[in-house]
Formats: sequence, C-alpha cells, structure tokens
Amino acid sequence: KGDKGDREINLLKRQVSTLEGQLRALQSSFSKYKQVIMFPNGRIVGEKIFMTSGYEGNFDSLKQRCSQAGGQLASPRNAAENAAIQQILVLYNKSAFLGINDIQTEGRFKYLNGENIVYSNWQTGEPNNDKGVEDCVEVYSSGKWNDKSCGEKRLIVCEF
Ligand code: IPD
Ligand code: CA
Repeated sequence: KGDKGDREINLLKRQVSTLEGQLRALQSSFSKYKQVIMFPNGRIVGEKIFMTSGYEGNFDSLKQRCSQAGGQLASPRNAAENAAIQQILVLYNKSAFLGINDIQTEGRFKYLNGENIVYSNWQTGEPNNDKGVEDCVEVYSSGKWNDKSCGEKRLIVCEF
C-alpha cells in the first residue's frame, strides 16, 4: 500500500536508472572521443597512451617536451608497447628516441626514473657504443633498437 519507506525506495530506483542511462551515454561518447583523439598519431596499450606530435629534436629536447606536456618519453616495458610505438614510426618512416639511456653507467640501460630496463629489443650487434659516444636509444620503424648519440635528432613519441 506504499508507506514512506516504499516511496523512498522507488524514488532511489528511478534515480539509479537515470544515472545508468547517463553513464551509458557518457561511455559511448567518451569512446568516440578517444577514437578521434587517437587518430592518426596515438596508440593505446592497456592504461598507456603513446603519441607523437611530429616534432624532431635531440634527446634532451624530446624529454623536455614530453614532460612539459604532462607525460614522458616513450619507455616500452614489453613487446606490445614496443609494437604500438613502432606503428607510429611506420606512419612517419622515422626513428624515435626512447626514455632509456646509459648516461650514468656505460652498458647499464635505465629508464628516466633510474630503474634498470625490464624489456629490450636490440638490433643484432647492438648496443655497441659506437665511437664511445652512444648513450641514448633509438627505435627504428622496424621496432628494433640501436644505441645512438643523444645529440642526434629523432622523432618525438611520448607516453601518457
Ligand atoms: C652506425 C651504424 C652502427 C650503429 C651506430 C650507427 P653510421 O651508423 O648503423 O651499426 O651501431 O649506432 O651510428 O655511423 O654507420 O651511419
Ligand atoms: Ca649503436
């Protein structure tokens, strides 16, 4: 017969149902915006987003620009992340610098936070520290890595 408790429960049910509809609409709209914003220069892997702006510069310049944008230089931690970066490089037919180097200790490659790398995809014969001056890591559009002088100019790929 609808006492006060019943009326409050029914009100809450309508409110939940309204919110469910609004959430579904928001999810579908967000999913579309993601598609748009990832086109053509972005890739999503799990919780990570890789993106280039097309800018080219030396390692310090790329590192600064990614960090300025609220991200950091791409630092692939597994094959799926490396493949996503590679897909972006194929679009430009260029190589990029990763957020990895052995500036501190020759031969010990680390992420920008100082952690030792947990994944690598070196080209055969690399890293070779050619002429003793190669402390940064470029990734070719083949996905393979080469140590290279940090002063060279490469494509920017940031992760967020
Ligand atoms: C070099 C070679 C080498 C690689 C170096 C590159 P270069 O290019 O590709 O195999 O290890 O990092 O600089 O100097 O012969 O044009
Ligand atoms: Ca090399």
